[in-house]
Amino acid sequence: MSITRHQSRPSSDGGPEGPAPDAPKLHVVTFGCQMNKYDSELVEGRFLKEGYQTTGAMEEADVVLFNTCSVRDHAEERTWSWVGELKRAKEQRPDLVVGVMGCMAQRVEEEVFKRAGHVDLVAGTRQFHLLPKMVQELQERRQAPDRFARRERQLLATDMSEDVVVDRAGEEYAGGRHAYLAVMRGCDLNCTYCIVPTTRGRVRSRPIDELVREAEWYASQGVQVLTLLGQTINSYGEDMGRPEPGAPAMRGRQGRPSLADLLERLQGVEGLERIRLITLHPSYVTRPFAEAIRDYDKVERFLPLPAQAGSDDVLKRMKRGYTMDLYRRRADLLREIVPDIELGSDWIVGFCGETDEDFEGSERFLEEQGFLVNYVFKYDPRPSTRADERLVDDIAESVKKERNQRLLRIAERTQRLRLQRYVGQSVPVFVESGSERDERMLLGKTPWGMPVSFKGASALVGTHVRATVDETTSYGMSARLDLEGEAEPAS
Ligand code: SAH
Ligand code: SF4
Ligand code: F3S
Repeated sequence: MSITRHQSRPSSDGGPEGPAPDAPKLHVVTFGCQMNKYDSELVEGRFLKEGYQTTGAMEEADVVLFNTCSVRDHAEERTWSWVGELKRAKEQRPDLVVGVMGCMAQRVEEEVFKRAGHVDLVAGTRQFHLLPKMVQELQERRQAPDRFARRERQLLATDMSEDVVVDRAGEEYAGGRHAYLAVMRGCDLNCTYCIVPTTRGRVRSRPIDELVREAEWYASQGVQVLTLLGQTINSYGEDMGRPEPGAPAMRGRQGRPSLADLLERLQGVEGLERIRLITLHPSYVTRPFAEAIRDYDKVERFLPLPAQAGSDDVLKRMKRGYTMDLYRRRADLLREIVPDIELGSDWIVGFCGETDEDFEGSERFLEEQGFLVNYVFKYDPRPSTRADERLVDDIAESVKKERNQRLLRIAERTQRLRLQRYVGQSVPVFVESGSERDERMLLGKTPWGMPVSFKGASALVGTHVRATVDETTSYGMSARLDLEGEAEPAS
């Protein structure tokens, strides 16, 4: 999990339509996954519409928000320590507003105030869009300290029954060529180790038209690479109603909308060059979905399809909803229809009752499936999950650590083997950025999601080129541009 400090739009002197120089300043610190990064952008957009400006310097902000993660204990501990850092600042500047939003806020609710008395606002995963209003309410209450007790000067909004309303019209996007788009929220599965269904609630897929509008808005702002987000993104649409009689049937179950339908529409959005998907679940891999990946060439042929473990016993205790055999069949279906597809996986090591043999199963499964990208996590019991309540966290930390390192070693070797197949070959690359470390270097990705770095002019950023792979690196592959100056312009 990473931390991101946001400054998504120019601050203060942003031209005639920019915020006033004395506009109040917002600083957002984001922990956790891409969904949180997206939510942080939505929140910033709301505040900007209310006349705020963003700042990258926390010490000069009037409002500081922490967008939090609960997936492992470590993520929460880091948040508490960052939030704690503001206690002193708050004593010196009582006007400062400190808010905590996101998954941890949703999980612990008022406990935030108990643990960090200097926090003013807590907003859950479906209420964060209310934050500008909450800040206003808080400021009104602060004006009248005789009418509002100290407790009433701390506001909480964690209702999960509402949908987040997204409307980006009139916003400016300053995130460059890359953007996130959450196509659904929540998760309807209940893997026994996972806190996400508690923090994010039941699945709500967003209507296709609304998503296409947002994608078009991004494209109008210069976005070329769009990463679609959902906890089980290939179940998109399953929660929606069946189409009205007479309405055109879509490709999901009983004519419902599906990810294939959404991808078809997004393929048609002019300006978008690449569409990435995070994260798939094996249970929802269907033939129409695989055919959509094959048919729409903007969709990256790299799919994160977490296996989590290579033992049927462990998968059962995790309640993942598949056996290794079923996983193989789904992965094979993808490979049959899209032969050059690359898959990635997440792994949990040291889950309750994981024997040496179970773990060796994960090692073998990773190699067998040849996953290009692997994220390995040590099992961490999360409060009130089924695994925490009904199973025993019986694997010693030292064993978890060792298994973690062993699996990572195999992951590295497997990745190198996947990449080595391309050495000496010319591959298509979409150039996504210049390198921060060396301005002569460009970074891009193949259609199979492999990172490639090569020397080239910055004018090539945002175009499709071909490059010949020299060698594999820890980052991906290093290459030479095939025909400098003959890049194909992005469509
Ligand atoms: N929805 C996605 C992943 C969400 S969480 C999916 O189902 O694949 C991201 C990753 O964190 C998971 O894939 C899992 O590998 C890891 N994870 C989740 N809960 C965990 C826990 N309690 N301990 C360790 N790792 C965990
Ligand atoms: Fe968590 Fe499982 Fe849902 Fe993924 S599919 S978010 S691991 S409950
Ligand atoms: Fe963390 Fe919530 Fe994402 S728990 S991983 S921020 S969905």
